[in-house]
Amino acid sequence: MTVERFTTLELKEIKKNEEKITMITAYDYPTAQLVDEAGVETILVGDSLGMVVLGYQDTLSVTMEEMIHHAKAVVRGSKRSFVIVDMPFLTYQINKEEALRNAGRIIQETGAQGVKLEGGEEIIDAVRLIIGAGIPVVGHLGLTPQSAGQLGGFKVQGKDPATARKMIEDAVLLEEAGSFLLVLECVPWQLAKEITKKLTIPVIGIGAGKYCDGQVLVYHDVMGLYTGKRPKFVKQYASARDEMLKGVGDYISEVRQGSFPEEKHTFSISQEVLDYILKE
Ligand code: KIV
Repeated sequence: MTVERFTTLELKEIKKNEEKITMITAYDYPTAQLVDEAGVETILVGDSLGMVVLGYQDTLSVTMEEMIHHAKAVVRGSKRSFVIVDMPFLTYQINKEEALRNAGRIIQETGAQGVKLEGGEEIIDAVRLIIGAGIPVVGHLGLTPQSAGQLGGFKVQGKDPATARKMIEDAVLLEEAGSFLLVLECVPWQLAKEITKKLTIPVIGIGAGKYCDGQVLVYHDVMGLYTGKRPKFVKQYASARDEMLKGVGDYISEVRQGSFPEEKHTFSISQEVLDYILKE
């Protein structure tokens, strides 16, 4: 029996029914299998890939080739989840035609269901063109890591009247352009609540409080696998790194002591074959 993936309509329906949407990042086949089996509705192949998997300092160095390579594995590993891929820095900001070409490549080459772009008014023409070509788009407002330099660092966004108002306007603009989902990152909960109420499309929060229609977190933060700085909004649900470190440590000790491999891990040949080899 083939399992159908969630659709944009089903995700909107979840909001209408006042239920929550879960999203988590994944960057490879086994993680995609795991989070899909656990039951998330949406998987984000975020450009956080650069920091948590590839060891870069920020998300700006991530390329189209890297995103496509990892997104293909995530699509192969998942069955039911709706897979969204981040468009990397400078693949949609230069002009709208280039944005469409890159969004098209992501969808065509990976088999993912949607793309995510950071920004509002300044990228709205690109968003319209991509949606016009039939590609589902997720917006991303608030702290947009690709422009953290311009925002003055990794800071809460929308605390003053002007930026709060601008965020509401951008959110409405993205919905009117046809985006089917919006991510709000590092936004005061009261502002996120207002935006969530105002929009008919689902709003997924990360550091945006509990009144959003759903939540997203980075897998490595959730599992306790990332050793870098952990933002305040992260909740760690497992200590996988400790468990994995112990596993590798036990393996090293057993090999050094000679207690691995045991007989059950080995293969043998018959005495007859052995005698034949030793005859020479
Ligand atoms: O790249 C990413 O993982 C993201 C989430 C933090 C929303 O954009």
